[in-house]
Amino acid sequence: VANNTIKEICEALVISDSKLAQVRDLLHQEIEKGLCKETNPEATVKCFPSYVRHLPNRKEAGKFLALDLGGTNFRILLIELTEEAIETKIVSKIFAIPNDIMVGPGSELFDYIAHCLSEFVHEYNVQHEKLPLGFTFSFPLRQEGLSKGVLVKWAKGFTCSGVVGEDIVRLLQEAVERKGDFEVDIVAILNDTTGTLMSCSYENPQCRIAIIVGTGTNACYVEDLDKVEMWDGDCREPRQVLINTEWGAFGEDGSLDFILTEYDRELDQNSLDVGHHIFGKMISGMYIGEIAGLVLRRLCREGLLFNGKGSEKFYERGSFDTKYLSEIEEEESGVISNCQKILDELCIPEYTEEDCSNVRYVCELVSRRSAALVSAGVACLLNRVKEKHVVVAMDGSVYRLHPAFHTVMVEGIAKLIDPDLEFELVFSKDGGGKGAALVAAVTARISDEND
Ligand code: BG6
Ligand code: GLC
Repeated sequence: VANNTIKEICEALVISDSKLAQVRDLLHQEIEKGLCKETNPEATVKCFPSYVRHLPNRKEAGKFLALDLGGTNFRILLIELTEEAIETKIVSKIFAIPNDIMVGPGSELFDYIAHCLSEFVHEYNVQHEKLPLGFTFSFPLRQEGLSKGVLVKWAKGFTCSGVVGEDIVRLLQEAVERKGDFEVDIVAILNDTTGTLMSCSYENPQCRIAIIVGTGTNACYVEDLDKVEMWDGDCREPRQVLINTEWGAFGEDGSLDFILTEYDRELDQNSLDVGHHIFGKMISGMYIGEIAGLVLRRLCREGLLFNGKGSEKFYERGSFDTKYLSEIEEEESGVISNCQKILDELCIPEYTEEDCSNVRYVCELVSRRSAALVSAGVACLLNRVKEKHVVVAMDGSVYRLHPAFHTVMVEGIAKLIDPDLEFELVFSKDGGGKGAALVAAVTARISDEND
């Protein structure tokens, strides 16, 4: 158990239940602002309509391609669906995105994607089939249709030039044409949360919400068309549309200042996008390791850890990886071998068992705060959706790898939802990519049904 001085220093990382309820209610207000035409320009949570309105019903059939860009891995998938889902065949391949491509000219990024796609379709011999392709592109996109989406801003370490403000489908189409040795039909562009919702609802018809807690964080949910003043598309049944909230941006107008700590402010100041993604920076994998790192460095500087002696590596920005939180917290309490391995990796010259227990204390506070904030967000969406029993699809490396995230969320959400609602959190593995193929498949089904 941490001593009182350490506890006092860390206290700001604990968010009380009443403050979490305030976060839930503020998010609700922001969503309302985002959905309304007049207030959308000032809204931080943009609530982009996805143009996906139909959920899968297992009558989808055919062969589809999917691209999944924006998480840890860039993946290409080929999916074959049969009616009633008798057999779903999926083959997929991961391609690394080199770091210089993430920050280079946009044309090189799209040429690289087209190059990988060409390799993939040739390997599976579908280069001449002109297959429908769904593109999961996990960045803030203002969609102007199912197959038109303009990048609003980059996130998660991507900064390719010449892409913000452009239609991503056109950029991909042009790169495919430049490559010239295969054909595809790009029918949909979507967010990873939208893909995850589609993929989960293929298995669970009660799925209405999808959450990613990975490199970034975001939420998508099914909203009534009547509540989406921003909607300018087809108004026929079903009167609903999937909304990509882009909740990572929540707090950019200062509304979350009441829970920010000195560590959040320092992290933001040192980030590539100062002032942006305030909620996201308290939650997601790209940042929470560094938040723990900032706290640990302060404790060490003040002589409260490692006898006051860190190391060059330890004091380096970004050295405390988010995966360390999971590794340290997955040990049974009292066991410290993972923690020792990490402190050795960080070249800490000397440490005691008590230091290890304090390091764990800090990690727990940071990861629990992340899970608590996601819970406040999920509770807000469950209260909006208002169906008796809702399945929430979950994905992303933080949710997947962290040993306590799921449990903390289940408890946190239960405290914050309307008492007559029930929910279930369902892990939806790699849903982003499969969901892109499903959006393409549902689009094909609806168009056939309307013919
Ligand atoms: C994957 C999904 O499983 O998770 C992607 O297929 C998504 O679409 C990703 O972007 C998010 O998690 P992470 O941790 O890779 O950022
Ligand atoms: C970032 C992106 C968002 C994505 C999320 C999870 O917040 O802006 O589009 O859904 O990361 O990958």
